[in-house]
Amino acid sequence: MTAALPHHLPAWHALALAATHVPHLRDLLQDPQRPARMTAQAAGLTLDYSRQRVTPAVWQSLLDLARQSHLEAQRDAMFRGERINTTEDRAVLHVALRGALDDTPTWSAAISRDVKTQLERMLALAERIRAGDWLGASRKPITDVVAIGIGGSDLGPRMAAQALQRDARPGVRVHFVSNPDAAVLQAVLQGLDPLRTGFVVASKTFTTQETLLNARSARRWLADAGVAQWQRQFVAITSAPDTALALGFDPDLTLAFWDWVGGRYSLWSAIGLPLAIAIGTDAFLQLLEGAHAMDRHFAQAPLAANLPVLMALLGIWQRNFLATPTQLVTSYTAHLALLPSYLQQMDMESNGKGTHADGRAVQAAMGGTGPIVWGGLGIDGQHAYYQLLHQGTHRVAIDFIGTRRSDASLPLADEHQRFNQANMLAQAQALSVGRDAPTTRQLLIDSGLSPAQADRLTPHRSFEGNTASNLIWLDTVTPHSLGALVALYEHKVFCQAAIWQTLAFDQWGVELGKTVANGVLAHLSQGADMPEHTDASTLASLAFLRHAGGTDPASAASQTPPVTAPSAWPA
Ligand code: F6P
Repeated sequence: MTAALPHHLPAWHALALAATHVPHLRDLLQDPQRPARMTAQAAGLTLDYSRQRVTPAVWQSLLDLARQSHLEAQRDAMFRGERINTTEDRAVLHVALRGALDDTPTWSAAISRDVKTQLERMLALAERIRAGDWLGASRKPITDVVAIGIGGSDLGPRMAAQALQRDARPGVRVHFVSNPDAAVLQAVLQGLDPLRTGFVVASKTFTTQETLLNARSARRWLADAGVAQWQRQFVAITSAPDTALALGFDPDLTLAFWDWVGGRYSLWSAIGLPLAIAIGTDAFLQLLEGAHAMDRHFAQAPLAANLPVLMALLGIWQRNFLATPTQLVTSYTAHLALLPSYLQQMDMESNGKGTHADGRAVQAAMGGTGPIVWGGLGIDGQHAYYQLLHQGTHRVAIDFIGTRRSDASLPLADEHQRFNQANMLAQAQALSVGRDAPTTRQLLIDSGLSPAQADRLTPHRSFEGNTASNLIWLDTVTPHSLGALVALYEHKVFCQAAIWQTLAFDQWGVELGKTVANGVLAHLSQGADMPEHTDASTLASLAFLRHAGGTDPASAASQTPPVTAPSAWPA
């Protein structure tokens, strides 16, 4: 029997009806009991969702929606290691990566053993590098590690290393390169000593062209400096170790993980090596522990007190019923500056789907799936794009993230901290409550303007408000709290896909662009004919590039080997 689509469930109908008459946040926030009722905690995180446009009746219907979607059964299937990634026929077990020390795993004991072995291997290598015991081809200790990867093989370690840099050991520096523009790698390599620089090539598939190109360029940089035995200065991290070994990587410096770890969920695997080099074993284990604490909460807490479930339901309320297509993540701690980019991949690659699990197309009547996720640092945003939040015409859902304490040691650190907190609270209030026209007009008159002047300015100086937000508080940004926070978002994304009946763990959408790029690249580098159905604009752009003299397929063909693995890695 075909399952009922989400928008055919009784709870969905109740929510659609409720959405037609939701009170303004200005009125909802009059209730002094609301914050206590609408605050939940888990794994050291506090979620205040009192600024959501939710009444008790809406809340009950949202919980009904979770139940009618069999959310708990779907969650349990993931934790048991069932092959819920059906288009790739794979289990989804990133939870096992941080639960290796769990005495009662829901997945197989063999997986726990395997995870533990690889984790120990990765951490041992990280410690060796931190201790200066990774010697390059000329027996000099490696002092700089350049992590090469992209997407899920870059964003997680990069984001976490930036967030936790306080724990970093100054002796060994870690750099990240993802974009294949030569300027990026060049900027990192400038000033580095080839004899003391090691590279970590992170790629789940080990076929990603951007990563292989950067790695090849790095290898050439070593060769030009006289380092012939490049293998001694290259680590490979991949779920396809045979591919890395076939390209000549050293087996002792090849770390593996599994196909049941999605790229964007792989921070916790060997992909975390650059982070472990930066912060060390203890901190890396605390990160895993924080995520595991959130996993346990997600697996065990009742729906109504389950943080990932709450965030997912509130997101669906915004997305599908209050017509809010974008999700802003705005951080009032600079430690989390890269979190929005990280979450952008996690959420948009997972929930950017227009097909239900059973193959039916997502209908417009459902109101869409994953939102557009964007964001940055809150205070900087206030001086840039917040104007649109206050008075623009887009609906934006907001997650404010802040810390209760500062970990900085500057003399005025507490003052900085209060400034951030004050602004986070002020923005949440201003955006939810706004300022209505009569109040604005009176304020203008009280400030000395004539009634006529006040009337003219009032529309421009009033604020509709009614923008809903979550406030997420960490005590401070530590490995543990960061782990819990990332796992919170991972499970939120999972729950939303479970309710939308979409598949969160494949990403076929990115393949078309890659296929087309291969054809264009073959033309640019080898003069190959463009495929028959190439559109007129592409052909015109290629002609434009030829005439600009920048790219001549004929001459490029004589210099550039084809950029497809394994020839991307010439011997
Ligand atoms: O193209 C998208 C993607 O496949 C992401 O899902 C992934 O994180 C990224 O590319 C990098 O892939 P890989 O780790 O295989 O190099």
